[in-house]
Amino acid sequence: MALATAQKAESAPPESSAPTSVTETASTWRGIPIVVANLKGGVGKSTLAVSLASALAPLARKVKFVDLDSQQSASEWVQLGQMDGHFKAIELVGQGVANTPDKDLADGLFDSWLDDCDFLIVDTPAGGTLTPTTQQAIAVTDLVLVPFEPASLAIRSTVKMWPFLREAKRKNKYLEVWVFPSKVEMNTNEHRDGIAQMKDFVEQNNDGFITFAPFSISKRTAYQTISTDGTGPESRRLTDVSRQEIEAIKIAVLRHLEVLG
Ligand SMILES: Nc1ncnc2c1ncn2[C@@H]1O[C@H](COP(=O)(O)OP(=O)(O)OP(=O)(O)O)[C@@H](O)[C@H]1O
Ligand SMILES: [Mg+2]
Repeated sequence: MALATAQKAESAPPESSAPTSVTETASTWRGIPIVVANLKGGVGKSTLAVSLASALAPLARKVKFVDLDSQQSASEWVQLGQMDGHFKAIELVGQGVANTPDKDLADGLFDSWLDDCDFLIVDTPAGGTLTPTTQQAIAVTDLVLVPFEPASLAIRSTVKMWPFLREAKRKNKYLEVWVFPSKVEMNTNEHRDGIAQMKDFVEQNNDGFITFAPFSISKRTAYQTISTDGTGPESRRLTDVSRQEIEAIKIAVLRHLEVLG
């Protein structure tokens, strides 16, 4: 796994100096960042980010979650769930500082958040441009998930990310980006066409590191319900289909990160 390998290599002590204390050994425990991003609003970024964090939590010692959106809707969802005993293995980090426009500060923050966790899930805001903290998140991750709504207006906003992603790839050779449909209604021509249109766009641009991923999230009220309930994909309110959709993304992520064979 590219990033973890690189991080381990960087954080490992030189061969000649064996770790001298538990603290030194423990300091090599670094999480894997996974960023959910799309400049288009309302496509299901926060829903996916919280659901994925919740799905990964049982497999991890600790999952950290950082909400880079000043609306803080994902943080509120997690906090609501925590009051009812959900999301116990998820630690919210960066409350109040996550949106700093100071690039150097953001750099240091990500570095500290990656300590002592297995995964750092990063939810990012929509907008006309990628914020400094979102750019910083993409600079330190090797996986960006881009859910898009397969409607023409939403696709136009989504593809505005490409210049940012290409720029990030120049700085971060490990970067991989997965684009996939979200809030899909396959019974509509608009959505079927939108999926085909985005798939063509990704293939024709042939960036190599940007892939049209073989999964999708369908439009189901159950996804709305879990955010208002403060629960995750384990909720009985989620249908089997929805649970399987999140599970498929989780498995693909784990395989990509070589956590699963
Ligand atoms: N798969 C889905 N099916 C139905 N509703 C969904 C689905 N995913 C998200 N929603 C609903 O759509 C709305 C927007 O979702 P969400 O907040 O996850 O999107 P977002 O991309 O994070 O938005 P923003 O850009 O405003 O942060 C919410 O009301 C959410 O409950
Ligand atoms: Mg959001």
